[in-house]
Amino acid sequence: MLEEVWHLSNLKMFVKELDLEIKEARHIHPVHRNSIFLAQYIAQKHFKNVLEIGTGTGIIALHLAKKGSKVTATDIREDVVKAACNNGRLNNVHVNFVVSDLYKNVKGKYDCVIFIPPYFTSSSFSSFAFLFEKCLPWFLETRISYLLDIFFLKGKPSYPRRELLKRFLEETPSYLSRDGCIFLSVFKSDIPFLKLFSSFSYERISLPFFSNIIIFKITPLTRLNT
Ligand SMILES: C[S@@+](CC[C@H](N)C(=O)[O-])C[C@H]1O[C@@H](n2cnc3c(N)ncnc32)[C@H](O)[C@@H]1O
Repeated sequence: MLEEVWHLSNLKMFVKELDLEIKEARHIHPVHRNSIFLAQYIAQKHFKNVLEIGTGTGIIALHLAKKGSKVTATDIREDVVKAACNNGRLNNVHVNFVVSDLYKNVKGKYDCVIFIPPYFTSSSFSSFAFLFEKCLPWFLETRISYLLDIFFLKGKPSYPRRELLKRFLEETPSYLSRDGCIFLSVFKSDIPFLKLFSSFSYERISLPFFSNIIIFKITPLTRLNT
């Protein structure tokens, strides 16, 4: 907990550590340290072609582009994509930002596809998301979404976040290059759901801090012909 309070007060510093200026806005998902960690972790792998789905402020996409990857980044919301483009201009970094619902407006093959899915996509809870994000520090927000997930939403087939994950895992292999891989963040309670997708191998990336979010590097067991 103390570590989290410390991190919260130092979030700006962590963003600065990436040497990027990121403007957050009311309508955009705030930058979490999971994203900063993932950006730094993936940058070390030097992927040539990267696709980020659900880019938010664009922080991950911009960091990877700055480190030399060719990056396409999408978000389902046009206003969010506009804000990410602005962050690109602010930092003089080029990312191909596209408005797209998952792969709807995406073409090509990628060495690495990244997705940090929204914590809330259930319409009944989405109106609370804004309240959580704005009125509570981020560490409380992620715990509340985690608790909602465990106690109210777990296992429900109609749970839109799971549907989104399902679509993502079904559609992604067609967009991966021969040795391509996926980085996906999920809640611990999503793991039994992920196990339904047995055509992948899952490697857990250990985070150097406590988090409710788990990051997996996912690789298709059977490669599609590319
Ligand atoms: C948890 S935020 C992650 C933001 C960013 N990647 C980061 O690390 O700060 C999830 C993002 O996914 C976007 N999103 C939700 N559903 C989507 C979909 N079907 N296709 C593309 N993006 C989507 C949301 O608008 C939101 O910006």
